[in-house]
Amino acid sequence: MATTIPIAANDLNPAPIEANDEVTSDWDEESIASSTQSLSESIREHVYENGRRYHQKSKDQYMLPTDETELDRLDMVHHMHLELLEGNLCITKFEEGADPANVLDCGCGTGIWALEFGDLHPGSQVIGLDLAPIQPGWTAPNVKFELDDLEKEWTYPKNHFNYIHSRHLIMSIKDWPRYIAQLYSHIAPGGRVELVEHTIDKSYSDDGTLLEESPFNAYWTALRPCYEKLGINWRLHGTHYKHMLEEAGFEDVTIYTLKVPAGGWPRDKKMRRLGSIFAQVASTGVEAYGLGMLTSLGGYSVEEATELVKNSLVPLRDPKVHAYYFEYYITARKHAWEGDTPLHLQS
Ligand SMILES: C[S@@+](CC[C@H](N)C(=O)[O-])C[C@H]1O[C@@H](n2cnc3c(N)ncnc32)[C@H](O)[C@@H]1O
Repeated sequence: MATTIPIAANDLNPAPIEANDEVTSDWDEESIASSTQSLSESIREHVYENGRRYHQKSKDQYMLPTDETELDRLDMVHHMHLELLEGNLCITKFEEGADPANVLDCGCGTGIWALEFGDLHPGSQVIGLDLAPIQPGWTAPNVKFELDDLEKEWTYPKNHFNYIHSRHLIMSIKDWPRYIAQLYSHIAPGGRVELVEHTIDKSYSDDGTLLEESPFNAYWTALRPCYEKLGINWRLHGTHYKHMLEEAGFEDVTIYTLKVPAGGWPRDKKMRRLGSIFAQVASTGVEAYGLGMLTSLGGYSVEEATELVKNSLVPLRDPKVHAYYFEYYITARKHAWEGDTPLHLQS
């Protein structure tokens, strides 16, 4: 596994991405492809709306679908992160032969990260936790999947996990300070957490080629009232997570900020590839994020929402539009006490 992380810590304003002015086609055509728990039938129930499948029990809390299209998209996002981190599963580094004993992957989705982490770290016991049963029924011996709600009181022992990974839960977690307080209580002294989050407020460009009124931003703007009805804080950026982790008591909180190009417009080959992967992710992602919310919470008819979703993709296919969004990796550590664990953290 590669060990070099190509990004600088505390780089809050990464350099602009250079555009490839010679691109004439729409987006880069480069090849992109390159529980153990027994679950009751009721947990598996799904509902169908607007041609998409949603998990019945999660529906009031999490508005994204759980059909094959969405599961493929989540795995493609995982692939995008591997590209971003040059093949690494996370930024946190573990010494050779010192696998973290107890690992939790919060909101594990398809379970792909948990399975790959378990594979690379045979000395770790990995739990992938999610609201929806969208993980494979088979697992490696050191990986298990559990169904639960992260926003409820956690039943795990306190001071237990040596590493907690939490990726792309901006649409899932409503009460971030409480969530982060639970991370802090359940991580062992000296243990580490890694949050990976992205912006959902709008998309950006450094050279003004993405207009504020572009259909891509019109889409994000239309979603804001829906987020608010759901209690999702769409304004969060990297520094907010950093601040919340510090407030909860974490130390060594380090933030890595990346600009991810929305489309295959950059000159640099690696960035162009990333942008192309993002364009693929977005081709179903904007519908996954938007359709359910715009129709059930935003007052849009299915036709209006479909039109907004469809139009939002147009700027992504235009190489003259140099749009990007932010991905943040935030790593932190809980103090390793030399004496006793403080009373409030004892299990
Ligand atoms: C955008 S996906 C991210 C999946 C995974 N972390 C990844 O990066 O591939 C968000 C996941 O969080 C889950 N989720 C949403 N709300 C949750 C909650 N309150 N408790 C546990 N999981 C939740 C969803 O079911 C979904 O699988």
